[in-house]
Amino acid sequence: MYSMHDGANISVHQEIAQRLNPKTCVEIGAYYGGITYKLCKLLPQSHFFAIQAYHDHKLNHMPDTPRGEYSVGSAEGSIDPDLKDKDWKRSVVRHFPKEYHDYFDFNLLVKTFQDTDNVSILLDTSPLKYDWKLGFDLAIFDVSPLFEENVKQFNYWCKYGNNSSHILMGAYTHQEEFYQYVDKRYKAEKIRDDYVLVCI
Ligand SMILES: C[S@@+](CC[C@H](N)C(=O)[O-])C[C@H]1O[C@@H](n2cnc3c(N)ncnc32)[C@H](O)[C@@H]1O
Repeated sequence: MYSMHDGANISVHQEIAQRLNPKTCVEIGAYYGGITYKLCKLLPQSHFFAIQAYHDHKLNHMPDTPRGEYSVGSAEGSIDPDLKDKDWKRSVVRHFPKEYHDYFDFNLLVKTFQDTDNVSILLDTSPLKYDWKLGFDLAIFDVSPLFEENVKQFNYWCKYGNNSSHILMGAYTHQEEFYQYVDKRYKAEKIRDDYVLVCI
């Protein structure tokens, strides 16, 4: 199955999941579910929640459009300046089949998980407007290139982790800033160039 990180750094998520062996894992910002799919096969005894927003203004669309989020621009063309060099459209053109090269299609997200039985797809926008009652051992964030948005996400989810749980934040463009932010309160580790792993 397909991830925006195919061809780049998908192994980070696999390494961390194997190291921590979480019983319950939440991925916030699933897109077509590629990361969760790989992890749910790697850890068949674990349960996964793939959280994906459903409002149009939060969706990543492939056509060059003012609809959605980070959807203006084209692969290897001009992209949203907040993305810096993270050209997600280039990844999709290179690594996803043609059927994925259009407006976001929820059927394709569902299709990803049809041969699995340890994944729940949750269509909602994080932070959720209610308490997350199910806990988690690992939460993976792949939602935003913006520091402020990831801080907002972190401050919601850090309340709901199980004992010794972890948050793996995709802190694209602001790894050092995010590390400094959480390191004041929690034990944190920088992983490669883009990620911060926090023990909560
Ligand atoms: C960078 S993509 C995720 C890529 C995916 N993890 C993969 O490996 O292919 C970000 C996804 O998060 C979704 N998203 C953005 N903000 C969100 C939010 N606040 N809550 C839930 N989903 C969100 C977007 O619609 C998009 O599908």
